[in-house]
Amino acid sequence: MARPKITVVGAGNVGATAAHWIAARELADVVLVDIVEGMPQGKSLDLMQARPIFGFNVDVVGANDYDATKGSQVVIITAGIPRKPGMSREDLINTNKNIVATVTKEVVSRSPNAFLIIVSNPLDAMCYVAYKVSGFPKKRVMGMAGILDTARYRCFIAMELKVAVDEIQAMVLGGHGDEMVPLVSMTTVSGVPLTELMSKKKIEALVQRTAKGGGEIVALLKTGSAYYAPAAGAVQMAEAILKNQKRVVPVSAYLTGQYGLNDIFFGVPVILGSSGVEKIITVKLSKAEEAKLKNSADAVAKTRDLLGM
Ligand code: NAI
Ligand code: 2OP
Repeated sequence: MARPKITVVGAGNVGATAAHWIAARELADVVLVDIVEGMPQGKSLDLMQARPIFGFNVDVVGANDYDATKGSQVVIITAGIPRKPGMSREDLINTNKNIVATVTKEVVSRSPNAFLIIVSNPLDAMCYVAYKVSGFPKKRVMGMAGILDTARYRCFIAMELKVAVDEIQAMVLGGHGDEMVPLVSMTTVSGVPLTELMSKKKIEALVQRTAKGGGEIVALLKTGSAYYAPAAGAVQMAEAILKNQKRVVPVSAYLTGQYGLNDIFFGVPVILGSSGVEKIITVKLSKAEEAKLKNSADAVAKTRDLLGM
């Protein structure tokens, strides 16, 4: 049986790391595309040469055009420019809008049945661009952010409590911006509510650190933004689709009335399986969480409106 094919567009930090995770997990063959000549080819060849050492057996090819992407089951779009210190994700909007629109046209003409996983920022707005340009059904266009934001939140809690990260169950909803909403009321440590294990003040500090988690890494790196955890998030989504895992994870999905929102991509819990976004789950929120989610939705809608689409 032929192996599935995942195209990763943008062979920079997130794209190349995603290719690395996909190959190392033997999830699919990978086509890595970038506009920089030679770079995706060089990274792909390097990754291929790692195969005898760790013994993974998939093909990775690099390209500057889209011919090799034909018939991909999943396309991960990471093309664009990343944040530099002092920039918000929204500052990237015009440049990345044009890049994501161009790339989307290219990939959908070769892979009309693919699932599109968007990573480029500003995330929720870039999903909107890919959705409009592709003309794909809403189940097949989604954005990676909630998995990353939730992973950061879980990581900070585990570090604070000195417990294994797997013991932390949590969900961060909303737009991929500083207004995102970690759901404290639903955060548990192996079933025990977080509020029984940590002071309100400490929880609030971790919530704030999560919301600014991307900026913390940008300030440290100085030349770009995070990529190991973002790439892992995108690959987890691809895996859930290819293996029909029915994972319940927060992704940026197109809403048609859920959470009182319409015509917007927004981070909500979904079931992710072989049909893509199979179901959007509506969770009961506290009044305070509801208000925060509305604030986040207002920010995402404002950025979406700047697209003029
Ligand atoms: P990077 O600069 O390392 O890589 C981006 C790559 O895109 C570059 O190699 C560039 O040549 C390529 N590119 C630009 N225009 C292109 C085009 N038209 N066609 C093909 N390739 C093109 O940036 P990095 O760190 O990989 O980040 C990529 C994007 O992902 C940024 O917009 C960043 O803000 C976003 N991001 C989003 C996250 C999320 O949670 N959704 C997390 C981390 C990054
Ligand atoms: C992040 O959250 C910059 O969106 C990117 O790391």
